[in-house]
Amino acid sequence: MSRSPAGRQPADFAMALQPAVARDQIVDEVFARDVIAGLTARPKRLPPKYFYDETGSRLFEEITRTPEYYPTRTELGILQTRASEIARLFPPGAALIEFGSGSSRKVRLLLDAGRVCAYVPVDISAQGPKQEAARLKRDYPRLAVFPVVADFTHSFRLPRPLARLPRAGVIPGTTIGNFEPAQAIAFLRHAARMLGSASVFVVGVDLVKDAAVLNAAYNDAAGITAKFNLNLLYRINRELGADFDPASFSHQAFFDPERSRVEMHLVSRVRQRVNVCGRVIEFRAAETIHTENSYKYTVESFAALARNAGFEPIETWTDPAGYFAVQALRSG
Ligand SMILES: C[S@@+](CC[C@H](N)C(=O)[O-])C[C@H]1O[C@@H](n2cnc3c(N)ncnc32)[C@H](O)[C@@H]1O
Repeated sequence: MSRSPAGRQPADFAMALQPAVARDQIVDEVFARDVIAGLTARPKRLPPKYFYDETGSRLFEEITRTPEYYPTRTELGILQTRASEIARLFPPGAALIEFGSGSSRKVRLLLDAGRVCAYVPVDISAQGPKQEAARLKRDYPRLAVFPVVADFTHSFRLPRPLARLPRAGVIPGTTIGNFEPAQAIAFLRHAARMLGSASVFVVGVDLVKDAAVLNAAYNDAAGITAKFNLNLLYRINRELGADFDPASFSHQAFFDPERSRVEMHLVSRVRQRVNVCGRVIEFRAAETIHTENSYKYTVESFAALARNAGFEPIETWTDPAGYFAVQALRSG
């Protein structure tokens, strides 16, 4: 995420104040406000959470199946061998809250260990958690599933039946890396408040590695990541009535070793003007919109960040090549 949650009005708080206004309208207003703020900033930027409309979520799943995108298969490999060890850290009968659940593919390995009695997939994408909830209810008939569509950087209400259950959390994938480090600390503190004291939070952490591997992962030969990045412009056209010509932008992604992050941009191929929500946005040729950062950590640097947020790292599992880590943290 490229913006601080501080100072923003959470959508659910806005809804409480304006019950007569449809939820979709409020969501569109927040989207429009974030897009205008990002496109009038210098340098231009857009928050990566807006990648995940229906098309973006489908494209992300396609990215995870490209040969270059190692994080998904590597983390799945770790979970396949370590799921029961990880699940043993959850209190029996716990509710497991997943932040950014997407297809809920990885969490199934933790659910198979049979330790939790409720699962709360939380995702900003309206389709994901609800569709998956139906499949999970079929595959795990004894599990209570409570899908939540929300922006997890803001406070959101947990379903009432969870009030008395002990809680555990999980945020797999590269999602934590999309935060600026200071925002990652703020997010971890926020998650700790939701999970309660002495709770376990399992975090997927993409590790620093050879730049060639990182650059390939975000520039797959089939061009799926490029489509995923450009879909943001199609989404802004579709939902906000803008007139971007996506063909006049190109995908760019590269690892910056000094900042230890992969940056993704949309590069304007020409000098142009675009109309967005009644504003004219000017682009110079080669000017970019910064659409995502994906920070890469070492096991030690992520542990230090977690400690800064009041968590104590209790266990770390990695793959043999050291590409990815799953870290279990305990809140203070
Ligand atoms: C990189 S994908 C990871 C998906 C899945 N957890 C995995 O490991 O494959 C990030 C997921 O987080 C969701 N997401 C991103 N930002 C979010 C936010 N601010 N609030 C809620 N969900 C968010 C996206 O919709 C997407 O499903």
